[in-house]
Amino acid sequence: MAAKPDKTEELADLWPGQSVPLLKALHILTQNGGLNADSRRKLKQVQHLAQLIKPAIDAALSHTDQPVLADLGAGKSYLGFVLYDLYFAPAGRGKVIGVEARPDLVATARRIAAESGFARMEFVEGRIGEAGVGPVDIVTALHACDTATDEAILFALKHDAKTIALVPCCQAELARELEDAKGPMQQLWRHPIQRREFGAHLTNVLRGLFLEAQGYKVRVTELTGLEHSLKNEFIFAARHQRANPRARAEFEKLAKDVGAAPSLLRDFLAAPSSAE
Ligand SMILES: C[S@@+](CC[C@H](N)C(=O)[O-])C[C@H]1O[C@@H](n2cnc3c(N)ncnc32)[C@H](O)[C@@H]1O
Repeated sequence: MAAKPDKTEELADLWPGQSVPLLKALHILTQNGGLNADSRRKLKQVQHLAQLIKPAIDAALSHTDQPVLADLGAGKSYLGFVLYDLYFAPAGRGKVIGVEARPDLVATARRIAAESGFARMEFVEGRIGEAGVGPVDIVTALHACDTATDEAILFALKHDAKTIALVPCCQAELARELEDAKGPMQQLWRHPIQRREFGAHLTNVLRGLFLEAQGYKVRVTELTGLEHSLKNEFIFAARHQRANPRARAEFEKLAKDVGAAPSLLRDFLAAPSSAE
């Protein structure tokens, strides 16, 4: 006979005050309170990110009456729900807005929010790049696919977000560009797997420089151990000045030297409105 899941051990993965009915509605916990390997991994990522973002949420709650957090490329909105459950519901104020392109995921998230009584959660159906939601204090994007992370960065600028927390997903755009990029460093991306890995690394380096150029202080660290996810780079940006021309020059030099850059960020800088 198969061993019964150790409920106590599984529930030990939860934080004090975390809603078990919510985690069941999200299918992170089974109806018996169990946790499979995939959902344990997701829960760990989301909880770790929640812990890293907590100081920014606390700061927003102390400076603003109704702080707004936008979670972009929300998917099943695990992150938004956990942040609301842990921080915004106990505070009794503040709003979480999920932006997601897939209508089915938005419909399910709206239903779970209504059933959970999470009245200050909203969901916008559509592309991040086209969404406009009013002032936003904090932007999060966990594994927003490919260039959706760049859309999230531009969304944060458009909404004047003070804090941005990104965990980028797979990146394919620069690997394609690197195929045609020649120059003194081209041996670095000679083979397809190297183009994919170097392209993803270069993308995140340029994202960090871009955010610095826009006046954010940027920290890049690991989200959780690689056993939880291979897409594990955590980019945290907090606004501290209006602009940083030196970082902008570094972005432009690196993009020129290598011959590739995320097109949305490059086009943003090339637009006349972005000139210093
Ligand atoms: C890999 S999933 C991650 C979902 C969620 N953040 C999580 O970590 O569980 C990426 C999600 O982003 C959505 N997405 C991708 N590109 C998007 C875009 N440009 N605008 C809005 N949503 C997008 C996809 O539909 C998908 O649900």
